[in-house]
Amino acid sequence: MVESNNHKEIRTDRLYLRRFSKENLDAYARIMGDHEVGKWFPKGDGYTHEEARRSLDSILKHWDKHGFGIWAVTDKEKGVLLGRCGLNLITETSEVEVDFVLGRNWWRRGYATEATKAALAHGFETLKLDRIIALTKPENIASRRVMEKNGMRYLKKRRILGHDLCLLRNFKGRIC
Ligand SMILES: CC(C)(COP(=O)(O)OP(=O)(O)OC[C@H]1O[C@@H](n2cnc3c(N)ncnc32)[C@H](O)[C@@H]1OP(=O)(O)O)[C@@H](O)C(=O)NCCC(=O)NCCS
Repeated sequence: MVESNNHKEIRTDRLYLRRFSKENLDAYARIMGDHEVGKWFPKGDGYTHEEARRSLDSILKHWDKHGFGIWAVTDKEKGVLLGRCGLNLITETSEVEVDFVLGRNWWRRGYATEATKAALAHGFETLKLDRIIALTKPENIASRRVMEKNGMRYLKKRRILGHDLCLLRNFKGRIC
């Protein structure tokens, strides 16, 4: 079940998707600083604390500018920050992508699939987007599975920042 009480917070069965705040920085930096997480970023490694701070800042600015963005994903029971998930405008191409990153301790519990489903539903139903894309390194099987389980389908390769990334796409009305 996905409930949205406003444009800024979403509740799923097990998760809250909420606006980040600057107080999340240290927990966010711990997640983003892990090499096993960061090896899938364009950089190919985890973020330094300063990179995490800039990333969080850019998430907050994106929300202020566009009225949507990437949420802090927390578990409902304890309020622990598990990672991030949401929608990001790629200004160069005017496309909206879905993005998700979870801390390693919380992988393989279906959380990314659950959060991504909510993000896509928000994009299609609330923001009235016609299509949403996702980009991932081809060998990132976990990421591709999350996309596929949410109805996204492989379209083509796209070269960004020196990497060949898989472009997956979903259209309105095709959320699984
Ligand atoms: C990608 C990521 C968010 C997936 O999170 P998750 O919560 O473990 O994903 P889910 O539990 O919802 O699993 C989704 C599917 O992927 C599969 N999966 C998860 N991790 C996997 C792995 N390491 N290898 C292969 N399949 C994997 C699951 O089995 C599940 O498929 P199934 O239902 O057919 O079994 C997480 O691995 C992550 O944060 N990775 C680092 C950052 C990243 O790659 N982000 C995406 C950048 S494009």
